[in-house]
Amino acid sequence: MAWLFAGCVRPVAYFTQGLSKWVILSSFWGHNAVKQALLSSNLGSIPLIGRGKVRDLYAVEDKLLLVATDRISAFDHVLATGIPGKGKILTQISLFWFELMESIVPNHLVTADVRQFPASLHPFSDQLEGRSMLVKRAGMFPIECVARGYLAGSGWKEYQASHTVCGIHLPEGLQDGSRLPEPIFTPATKSQDGAHDENIAFAQVQSLVGAGAAAELRRLTLEIYSRASRHAEERGLILADTKFEFGTTDAGIVLADEVLTPDSSRFWDAAAWAPGGAQPSFDKQYVRDYLEQIRWNKEAPAPSLPPEVVEQTQAKYLEAYRRLTGRSLDI
Ligand SMILES: Nc1ncnc2c1ncn2[C@@H]1O[C@H](COP(=O)(O)OP(=O)(O)OP(=O)(O)O)[C@@H](O)[C@H]1O
Ligand SMILES: [Mg+2]
Repeated sequence: MAWLFAGCVRPVAYFTQGLSKWVILSSFWGHNAVKQALLSSNLGSIPLIGRGKVRDLYAVEDKLLLVATDRISAFDHVLATGIPGKGKILTQISLFWFELMESIVPNHLVTADVRQFPASLHPFSDQLEGRSMLVKRAGMFPIECVARGYLAGSGWKEYQASHTVCGIHLPEGLQDGSRLPEPIFTPATKSQDGAHDENIAFAQVQSLVGAGAAAELRRLTLEIYSRASRHAEERGLILADTKFEFGTTDAGIVLADEVLTPDSSRFWDAAAWAPGGAQPSFDKQYVRDYLEQIRWNKEAPAPSLPPEVVEQTQAKYLEAYRRLTGRSLDI
């Protein structure tokens, strides 16, 4: 069985690299069962708006349908192999957080129950089950709302150059992976064309969205981060940083996009946390280690992954789900 790739609004080079242009399901043999990764959704005549690195986006009536595939990216490239069930796991993690954060901020979710989707989507339920969300279309703020409680990635880079992150002064002596004195709001531009997001100062947010909205986005970002990191800590995970996207609907400001998934956040295992170098990535470490081991030059075409790396990575995503939600998931 194979979903066929039928037209893509956004040109995505990785579909033509290293894997057949038309066969977009990968499979591997786990211990117990054959599992298949959905590398791309195909919803027939439902208008496809675009494909991100991981998610496919469709227009459904006046709403949007977000479909999380099993694609996985590393070093900014989508790999040729998917992680079976990853899209389901990420969707269920987002849903968990949307509910937990409802007392802080409303969100864009209409329903994730395929039976409640418009009838035009029902023929595709085997692709959509567990991995899709019908959401209200929001007027998106053109910024990525990032909260950081720890120094890593672009934050660490800027800190080394200037002891600041997004212009916020930080104490001397911090290391890669250090905990910050308090969580900070470090917004970034939203790249439209796959280019890197760029960290910006709060003043730029004010001029982009207005002073009132800027203050509210910062307040919400830090409040959600603080609630989520407390929850994660109770489960032995550090939420080092995370990215939110907000938009406006009739209900005012809503939390949109995906929330607090391993794809939009850095989760670290608290037991393994040791500032002074890059922290192991909770979910993608096996993938990164493998890609370093084969000395991939991090340029297209992205390689495929061997079954054991796929299996170990799938297990990490499931563990993230289990630890964060306290539930197990049948994928
Ligand atoms: N409720 C919503 N209303 C309107 N747009 C939304 C809503 N929720 C999310 N979006 C937008 O949908 C798009 C989802 O795209 P997605 O994140 O999958 O890919 P991308 O951002 O293009 O690339 P990447 O894979 O690097 O994140 C984003 O532009 C996001 O801002
Ligand atoms: Mg995105």
